[in-house]
Amino acid sequence: MMSIDEAVATRRSVRGYLPDEVPQDRLRELLALAQLSPSNCNIQPWITHVLSGPSLRSLGDKMVAAAEAGIPPDPDFPADRKFEGIYRARQIDAAVQLYGAMGIDRHDRPRRDWAYRRNLDFFGAPHAALIFLHHTFEEREAVDLGIYAQTLMLLLTSRGISSCAQGALGLYPGIIRDHLGLTQTHRLIFGISFGYEDPAVEANRARAGRAGVEDAVVFHRDAARA
Ligand SMILES: Cc1cc2nc3c(=O)[nH]c(=O)nc-3n(C[C@H](O)[C@H](O)[C@H](O)COP(=O)(O)O)c2cc1C
Repeated sequence: MMSIDEAVATRRSVRGYLPDEVPQDRLRELLALAQLSPSNCNIQPWITHVLSGPSLRSLGDKMVAAAEAGIPPDPDFPADRKFEGIYRARQIDAAVQLYGAMGIDRHDRPRRDWAYRRNLDFFGAPHAALIFLHHTFEEREAVDLGIYAQTLMLLLTSRGISSCAQGALGLYPGIIRDHLGLTQTHRLIFGISFGYEDPAVEANRARAGRAGVEDAVVFHRDAARA
């Protein structure tokens, strides 16, 4: 079994998968462990729907068809924020890494659109976890979803299962709700595609960088600021 350090250091977003499914009992074991994630007042606000097989593929087909038909996305949470300053620089760096690995020029709009649309078919993954938030909840509970998601992704990593968190899966929540028989009470921020990495997929050669601790963390020790 991997150490927590190894799981954190080796987890990365994988955007191309082999068709092999994760055994159902393993999946249940990891989802049960992820239930131990902490949450504000222990309300455990995540509502997770795991899709596999024909259910997953037909949902992917519906979302890709919507995008190709030019149907505008209608996300439950705003997804069109423009980043600025260092955040924009980090976004560009990640895009350069990803599109570079795929041999796509960052300014080649048609091929970038094609690459982005792969999100909607779960990058060919055999499974996806769609993580919903009850409509009465806001940012505080969304934090809990993030913690839960990272717990799940680290557990997957520790068992050799790759994943990719995808805000893009929240672009067509209406299609997803119809597919799953859910109502507007379930709001979708993101999902996680997961399965076994296909090492032949070019996108999987991308490696995203990180800011150093000195750029992200401020240490305080003095009793009062001067
Ligand atoms: C909440 C969230 C949403 C994300 N949405 C997407 C997405 O829609 N498509 C995608 O390809 N990657 C998505 N990512 C993956 C990030 O791009 C990735 O985590 C980041 O570039 C760092 O790379 P790494 O995960 O390989 O370390 C998302 C990650 C998070 C945490």
